[in-house]
Amino acid sequence: MKDMITQLIETRASVARYDADKQLSDAQLKELLRLATLSPSVYNMQNWKFIVVSSDAAKQKLHPIAFNQPQILDASATVIICGTLKGYQQLPKQLSPVVEANIMSQDVADGWVEMATNAHEGNYTLQRDEALRSGSLAGMTMMLAAHGMGIASGAMTGFDPGQLHAEFELEETDIPVMLVTLGYPAKQSWPQKPRQPMEDVTLFV
Ligand SMILES: Cc1cc2nc3c(=O)[nH]c(=O)nc-3n(C[C@H](O)[C@H](O)[C@H](O)COP(=O)(O)O)c2cc1C
Repeated sequence: MKDMITQLIETRASVARYDADKQLSDAQLKELLRLATLSPSVYNMQNWKFIVVSSDAAKQKLHPIAFNQPQILDASATVIICGTLKGYQQLPKQLSPVVEANIMSQDVADGWVEMATNAHEGNYTLQRDEALRSGSLAGMTMMLAAHGMGIASGAMTGFDPGQLHAEFELEETDIPVMLVTLGYPAKQSWPQKPRQPMEDVTLFV
């Protein structure tokens, strides 16, 4: 008997065709977003932002930006996952509840803030890399959480980031990492595709 997380990983599939008649509830969407925020991030920076596209008007706006891919219209919702730049500036605020919960001392938190500031300040490449990492981890958490709740999902990077920025009024510091479509699959949805053998992509050193 396989454990639940193994089963979820082995059966999750990227869905691109949704049953447009079946909608998620607000409670389901909020639970998925709450679970996504439990993802790890550098220094617990939580350098992400989520924009839920669920109204018809917002879907119509996103559709051409995502190169008219049909799942934007048929999915119950699409989450625009952004990683954010300059996350180190928010770190004191993010670490304060960690100190309050007695997980780390204020001295350790101050040390983390200093380390993060030294590494990130003025380093656009690192800020962007971390934004992409945090957004990607949040996206994967959301997709596995969705599968666990019987909800289909699909990651998408087929979109125009410039248009997305303009049309959804993203801030200068928001980096759109991926879209995650959510809903119930249409009958003809594909199952998970085969992968290369682990041995072909792994080096033990
Ligand atoms: C970063 C990323 C971007 C993707 N972009 C798109 C996309 O724009 N449109 C689409 O239909 N599928 C997209 N996919 C889905 C991939 O085609 C899919 O994950 C891959 O074929 C493996 O499918 P499986 O996980 O169901 O086996 C994307 C997946 C990832 C991870």
